[in-house]
Formats: sequence, structure tokens, C-alpha cells
Amino acid sequence: MTQHQTADITQAVLDRIAPDADPRFTQILTAVVRHVHALVREVDLKPDEWMAAIQFLTRVGQTCDEKRQEFILLSDTLGISMLVVQLDQARRSARALADASASVKPTEATVQGPFYWEGAPALPLGSDIGQGMPGEPAYYSGRVTDTHGQPLAHCCLDVWSGDGEGVYDMQMDGDVGMRLRGRFHTDADGAYRFWSIKPYYYPVPADGPVGNMLRAMGRHPNRPGHIHMMVYRDGYVPVTTHLFAADSPYLDSDAVFGVRDSLIVPYQAQGPGTAPDGRVMDKPYHVARYDFALAPAA
Ligand code: BEZ
Ligand code: FE
Repeated sequence: MTQHQTADITQAVLDRIAPDADPRFTQILTAVVRHVHALVREVDLKPDEWMAAIQFLTRVGQTCDEKRQEFILLSDTLGISMLVVQLDQARRSARALADASASVKPTEATVQGPFYWEGAPALPLGSDIGQGMPGEPAYYSGRVTDTHGQPLAHCCLDVWSGDGEGVYDMQMDGDVGMRLRGRFHTDADGAYRFWSIKPYYYPVPADGPVGNMLRAMGRHPNRPGHIHMMVYRDGYVPVTTHLFAADSPYLDSDAVFGVRDSLIVPYQAQGPGTAPDGRVMDKPYHVARYDFALAPAA
């Protein structure tokens, strides 16, 4: 019988991957085995510590249901989701990023998070998706262009956010359906506009094993105030991103490492009066303006 020494067990495991296994699978699994074995050696992992890790991952799985995805939260809070997002955008937008004649950089991507809900209603430009929800009204407007500054008409902005207290419809008591969500399409000038609320900071779910991990690390669970959007049109690299409120706490310590300087937007406070789209506001509101740019698809 072949006996494996601590020095050669890593290679012995790798040798068991069939030569005709899928090449990408082999590449990834080989790296997983190498890195985890290296970790065990580096910290001289004890059996009870390895069992604690297995129990932690078991609890992460047991915490998942159709509304809660604790594994994504684990990936998000360890910065893995954001690393994957950044590598993906660099790969898919490489041509636009290297194009010396481009005048605008593609809008930076950030994490999607667990609260995207496919099928938000398509609404006319200028609609208010925040009506009746807690929060201070905010008017959002801007343009979508390509990386040469040319306007992109018929571009979809699929928008979602929590309410003015940081609570998403999926987290609200009872089955409230879709709130603070909508799909808007840019006009012939690439312009978009809609009303919602000014987003507020909120904690990622911290009552499960990932919350325990954050506390053990001495970390808070908060995300700065942000509104999510997916911006896409045929022929262009879609971008999933956020706009972050410039005056929000936690911009420097987002629990999921999603903040990019280019996505921080001032929300200009306005008194009651006539808003930029002619709507007469009887209470204070905010104005946030942001232009998006999409890279051409390869
Ligand atoms: C969010 O922005 O909605 C979010 C992102 C990652 C983890 C939890 C929430
Ligand atoms: Fe969010």
C-alpha cells in the first residue's frame, strides 16, 4: 500500500484528478487543493480548529433559505465577491480600458448583493418608485453614454434599493411585493430620470454565522447608503453597480468592500418648491445626478 508522507500528500491528491477531466475544473480544483493544504501547513491547523471550520460552514449552509443566502454573504464580507467583480469587469472591458481614443471610462461595477429581484416593472421616465415608502424623496437623473461620450438610447436601468431606513422589500414583514424597484429606459439623448428616496446606511444580516464571524473579527456589519442599478443594452458590457450617498457613514469601511470613489455621488438638499422635472414638492428633497458609461462588448 502506498503511504503518503505529509510532504507528498498534496501531490498525491492532485494525481487523482483524471487526465481527461474538464481542464478549467482541473485548474481550479488544483489551486483549491494547493492553497488549502498550504493554509493547513502555514498555521499548523489543529484537528479541533478544522472541526470548528467544518461546523461553521455547516451553519452557513443551514442558514440559507429562499430569502437568505449566507454563503453569498460570507463571500461578500470576505471581499471575494468584490474581487471577482473587479476581475470580471477588467477582463470584459479590457478593450475599452486600453482604447486611447476613449474619452470616458466605463462605469465601475460593484457587488450585486442578495436583494436583486428580476422582473421589476418597466416604468415611464420620471416615475416615482419611492412613493409611500419611508425616506426623503430624491430625484435621480443623468445620461448613459458609450466610452466615446455618445449617448445610448433605449438603455435599461434596472434600479433597486432599501427604503429610507435601509430596509428592502424582501425584508419587510408580510408579503409586500416589489417596492422601490423599477426599470427605466433612456430616451433618444441617452437621458434617464426617476424619483426614489435618498438611501440610508444599513447592516448586512448579522444574526447568523457570518455575523458571528464579523464580531469575532471586531468588524461592524454596515454598508453605506446606496442605490443599486444594473445598466445594460445589446452590444455593450452590462454593469451592475451602486450610487453611494457622499455624506453617508461607513463609506470608508463598507462591510462588503463595494465602495469605489467614482460611484460616490453628492445628494444636493433642496427646500420645498419646483423640482428639475417641474414636479411641485411640498417638502424638502434631494437631487442626485450621475452619468453612466458602457464599454462595447467584444
Ligand atoms: C446589498 O447591498 O444589498 C448587500 C450586498 C452584500 C451583502 C448584503 C447586502
Ligand atoms: Fe444594497
